[in-house]
Amino acid sequence: MKVAVIGTGYVGITTGVTLAYVGHHVTCVDVNPAKLASLKAGKAPIYEPGLEELLSLAAERLAFTDSYAEAVPEADVIFIAVGTPPLPDGNPDLQYLQAAAAGIGEHIGEGFTVVVNKSTVPIGSGNWVDALIHEAFATRQGKLFQEHLAVASNPEFLREGSAIHDSLYPDRMVVGAEDQRALEVLYTLYRPILEQTFTPPSFIPRPEGLQAVPFIATDLTSAELIKYSANAFLALKISFINEIAALAERVGADVTQIAKGIGLDARIGTRFLQAGIGWGGSCFGKDTAALIATAQDYGLSMPIVAAAREVNYRQRERIVEKLLAELKILKGRTIGLLGLAFKPNTDDLRDAPALDIAHRLIERGVRVRVHDPVAMEKARREHPHLALHYCETPEEVAEEADALVLVTEWAMYRELPWEEMARRMRRAVLVDGRNFLDRAQMAALGFRYVGIGLNPLEPPRLAAKEAPRAVRVEG
Ligand code: NAI
Repeated sequence: MKVAVIGTGYVGITTGVTLAYVGHHVTCVDVNPAKLASLKAGKAPIYEPGLEELLSLAAERLAFTDSYAEAVPEADVIFIAVGTPPLPDGNPDLQYLQAAAAGIGEHIGEGFTVVVNKSTVPIGSGNWVDALIHEAFATRQGKLFQEHLAVASNPEFLREGSAIHDSLYPDRMVVGAEDQRALEVLYTLYRPILEQTFTPPSFIPRPEGLQAVPFIATDLTSAELIKYSANAFLALKISFINEIAALAERVGADVTQIAKGIGLDARIGTRFLQAGIGWGGSCFGKDTAALIATAQDYGLSMPIVAAAREVNYRQRERIVEKLLAELKILKGRTIGLLGLAFKPNTDDLRDAPALDIAHRLIERGVRVRVHDPVAMEKARREHPHLALHYCETPEEVAEEADALVLVTEWAMYRELPWEEMARRMRRAVLVDGRNFLDRAQMAALGFRYVGIGLNPLEPPRLAAKEAPRAVRVEG
């Protein structure tokens, strides 16, 4: 099939590249010349494992352009994957969506075309996009007949850091449309993924046992609401365990044990129950705010979702409180942050807790040293006014520091020469914002180790011969 993808951000480029990989001809449109130049040169404009390799494997079926006229007229399916960043009132900014819909309307061809909202957009956006396309078409060529166009919603659930994996092997595919033909076209488009008939790339193997992906066909509005509900639910799972973590600290319990103890109940599940600094990134904050704003439009409130937000943003201040408890005075101290990206394996800094924490510390007169394996260049570019001292290595961050905070659980931080790190520091205080490091080992190396919701005492254990087989808790 011929596919156009409007917007080549995290979602657009992943969609374009995976659809090209499974055999479609894809033209990606963007308005950012630097992104286009990078993609045309075969370079990924973002850090995302496997993206560059897939770009090269699918190169002959992929094109990049800034011209709607080149991509839109011939396309059977057009994905809109532009950004929908938050406005101060919580509603998403829809100016990019509006521009994309107008651009499609101006150039849409005469054949049957399915326009798909892949961006996370408020309830009712499907109808709005449909109207915008008709309007733009009418100003140029007269009436666009309904038989030529169907608008669908196909929310994206990929996780940054494993975006390619999640697009090739999704848990489910949700498609909402009022027009039966759109459902059929999208089923056909996604067939190689739904039926897992493509040859997996060697560097991102198919998960064991995956044979088919459930296809959830629904009406437009339900599909739009599924996306917001999924993100809100995940957000509140994390905030729930963080709320429990605060109580665990007070009563001398250990939140990691609690997470295991409740998570192995299949009704609860172990994932998204890691206590820590909380969520960040471009989606949870924005989408929970949008859900609340939508509810308000309809005269409803969303107290559970609102509380999840409150707990989450409170976690960032709790890190500052922990540092204060350890160091007593913050003014004039040097504190090192390990990790800037909002989570590992991405360079995305949107709503990143590290930047927020750095800002709070700088306001209190702290000198902040930072390291991140991939996101420092972006941080320098996007936050030129934040007075951070960028360090090329984690060891440099430790130099003469009064405390270190592990903000992002990059795998490389487990392997650091921690003994040397402790030696370099003025005070070996380590706040592990993700309960990521081995606390006994850190304590043995001389660190004052502070986690989130942890009991300072080692938990009792069964003698090895009596212990049941270990159960791995993932998340
Ligand atoms: P992004 O900000 O990385 O990318 C958006 C792209 O659209 C940019 O490259 C921008 O230059 C381009 N663009 C803006 N206006 C345009 C126009 N008129 N024509 C063509 N291109 C245009 O955004 P990201 O993260 O990819 O998100 C896109 C949407 O997907 C958002 O609604 C987001 O909520 C949703 N989403 C994002 C996920 C993520 O993990 N990043 C996951 C699931 C959904």
